[in-house]
Amino acid sequence: MTAPNDTRTSYDTAQQRSDRIWSQIGSDPSGLRMLTGDRPTGALHIGHYFGSLRNRVRLQDAGVETWVIVADYQVITDREVIGDIRGSVRELLTDYLAVGIDPERSTIFTHSAVPALNQLMLPFLSLVTQPELERNPTVKAELAAAGKSAMGGLLLTYPVHQAADILFCHGNLVPVGRDQLPHIEQTRVIARRFNERYAGGEAFFPEPDALLSEAPTILGLDGEHKMSKSRGNTVMLRMDADETLKKIKKAKTDADRRITYDPEGRPEVANLLTIAAEASGRAPEEIAEEIGDRGAGTLKLRTAEVLNEHLAPVRARRAELERDPGYLFEVLRAGNATANAEAEATLAKVREFMGMVY
Ligand code: TRP
Repeated sequence: MTAPNDTRTSYDTAQQRSDRIWSQIGSDPSGLRMLTGDRPTGALHIGHYFGSLRNRVRLQDAGVETWVIVADYQVITDREVIGDIRGSVRELLTDYLAVGIDPERSTIFTHSAVPALNQLMLPFLSLVTQPELERNPTVKAELAAAGKSAMGGLLLTYPVHQAADILFCHGNLVPVGRDQLPHIEQTRVIARRFNERYAGGEAFFPEPDALLSEAPTILGLDGEHKMSKSRGNTVMLRMDADETLKKIKKAKTDADRRITYDPEGRPEVANLLTIAAEASGRAPEEIAEEIGDRGAGTLKLRTAEVLNEHLAPVRARRAELERDPGYLFEVLRAGNATANAEAEATLAKVREFMGMVY
């Protein structure tokens, strides 16, 4: 048992479970159902790609059943304007399919089109307390980042909504970054309490595991903590080779001509080396050695070159998909139909457990 406030211990336990699952994926992925997704706020960048998308495709290709949620209701957890949501969803779908999420093998769907999923939120809310919701560190960080003092009701409760995203399809595997661990823990608690309180002890909902990836965090090209489109410090998947080169040429570096891989002391240089390493499948130290004392200019050219080479097939596929938005929304409608059938079946069982059959 881990004490609820001992985040360190629960992170360690989550890491251990995650390590175990990675080895299971290699030997026998049957019985694993992955559910993961993104907020649709526009097109994706290489931080998303190297950090999570590529990993999802690997899991899909390894034979893990794959469900991907386009979390449209989550867009309004930390902002007041929803913006061009259809355009954002289209961009996200384009990136998903371009990187290799295969609609033949994966179900891609949106919150807003799956009513029965959303309805699960009501019984789930009955299983959590206000202090539990209020101490979620990721929610607190999002409130602070949004620069607001009052917590919106949806921001406070979206981890419960996210539990519905995962549990409606009995997802048992959630590949996420560490910031999402509190939400997975909350989901496990909800599953456990539902089973005890409403399902008479039957293990109806699984307690899902987080799958933590080894992927590095890609920093913004301006040396900021994270790549983020609003800061303009990104390389977007949809950029062409020239734009990519221009962006990388403008990246912040330092004056030392000798290139070394030192993430602590030289984060900006290390970040370019990480990008080059991820794109080429080589070690960052090796790339640094090769460049030697030829300076940041050479490093930038090399990085842009290998990145463009790596992304060329993704971008070619992206351009093709852009010409056919009708197809993209067809894929989404098919995914929504699959998700609706699943959610309705789950909700029917939930109603039965709760005696709400009239
Ligand atoms: N909260 C996730 C993010 O911001 C997106 C998301 C929504 C999600 N529902 C999910 C991730 C369910 C995993 C499982 O990136």
